[in-house]
Amino acid sequence: MALILALDQGTTSSRAILFSDDGKIVGVEQKEFKQHYPQPGWVEHDPEEIWASQLEVTEAVLASNGVQAADIAALGITNQRETIVVWDRKTGAPIHPAIVWQDRRTAKVCQELKDAGREALVKKKTGLVLDPYFSGTKIAWILDKVPGARERAVQGELACGTIDAWLIWNLTGGKLHITDVSNASRTLLMNIHTGKWDDELLECFRVPSALLPEIRPSSEVYGEVSSSDKLKGIKIGGIAGDQQSALFGQACYVPGSVKNTYGTGCFMLMNTGPEAVTSEHNLLTTVAWQVGDQLEYALEGSVFTGGAVVSWLRDGLGIIKSSSEVEALANSVKDNGGVFVVPAFAGLGAPHWDPYARGTIVGITGGTTAAHIARAAVESIAFQVADLVGAMQSDSGVELGELRVDGGASVNAHLLQFQADLLQISVVRPVVTESTALGAAYLAGLAAGVWKDCETIANQWAVDVRFEPQISAEQSSALRSRWKQAVDRSMNWES
Ligand code: G3P
Repeated sequence: MALILALDQGTTSSRAILFSDDGKIVGVEQKEFKQHYPQPGWVEHDPEEIWASQLEVTEAVLASNGVQAADIAALGITNQRETIVVWDRKTGAPIHPAIVWQDRRTAKVCQELKDAGREALVKKKTGLVLDPYFSGTKIAWILDKVPGARERAVQGELACGTIDAWLIWNLTGGKLHITDVSNASRTLLMNIHTGKWDDELLECFRVPSALLPEIRPSSEVYGEVSSSDKLKGIKIGGIAGDQQSALFGQACYVPGSVKNTYGTGCFMLMNTGPEAVTSEHNLLTTVAWQVGDQLEYALEGSVFTGGAVVSWLRDGLGIIKSSSEVEALANSVKDNGGVFVVPAFAGLGAPHWDPYARGTIVGITGGTTAAHIARAAVESIAFQVADLVGAMQSDSGVELGELRVDGGASVNAHLLQFQADLLQISVVRPVVTESTALGAAYLAGLAAGVWKDCETIANQWAVDVRFEPQISAEQSSALRSRWKQAVDRSMNWES
């Protein structure tokens, strides 16, 4: 039996998962790390803490399962996307904290670029929109704020990259400075039609090319780990941004197949095959992966606050002690009592793209309890996902038959039932819901010859539960129009 290792570096935790060649989980280790909020709307991570926690859990998953480096066929890396690190090539030390994908500090720069008429160029070449979510403006911000950084970047003394590049640099002791096409497609700097960094975009976002990693396919043997005695010699065989990796792990290989991941945010991706479909409904066009020579694409709807609303109930409001309590509290009332929570904590992503939106609770009466708020918070996750589906169907011309789901909050049966009710289609949870890590393991295992092809992988994918709609289409649309009113109230709040 071959073993494949996935390093899943997410927004709030670093995880390492060991898989067997039948796609089953052998062992998991996880460590949360600190979120830094230096100002409202700003979110930072310590890159050293990311690396240390990732290394710790990776070494631990081998140790706790009695596995040696030599037993691992290959490792794959998947990561929170867009979050950016700039570091010194000589010392390997970051010159600034990582600026996280949720960070809104470059909202004004994005507005200025819009006002200067650059949005059409950006959309045509990158498939993205001008929003602080993506890496390009964050890189320029670091170069402008850290004394001397811009000059040093031009002279080739600094390196930058998304978290995959940062981890690979550290895993290989600085030998490899690479990223994959799926991660590069989130920077605003890569032309998604060529898979190459684009001079016009680099000029637009004021990023010197000397900073950037080499762009590689998502599945190939790039090199091997050299920096840790316990991991030494393991082949690095796969890289993908976490949402593209989940699409791969959910075996969505046929154009028109769709998955939604309920993580910190919610990300719905539809495979569109070799065609980069331009969105007319405020979705993103993104690279899904490159396996072999062919770039494949996806349409994406990105919701910034998904499962994070449950963390807020726990840490912000203190109405639950642990996230697992939310389902029972939400189910202790028969409905939301007319309360709607719009968790626009970091603005709104697709399909609204309003960096100035902020969280809102409407419909509170004297009879509202913590349970109603909890229920409305959970339902907000499903409402936001439902808003993406119509846009996706219109852009792709594909009527969704089912939605495959995964991620932390997919354990919540109430949430998935409500999702099926709102969407009026089947919501399908697979046996293995660690799709993000599984996708990275599959990409690495394909490169190392563990699996022959995607068809072999698709045969391993199996359904756990299928949630079918239990309310009428009229009831669903009444709920959704009330939700829309609540969203309208949250928009354009912060200036
Ligand atoms: O684009 C941001 C996304 O990659 C973050 O994913 O799972 O850490 O919420 P997650």
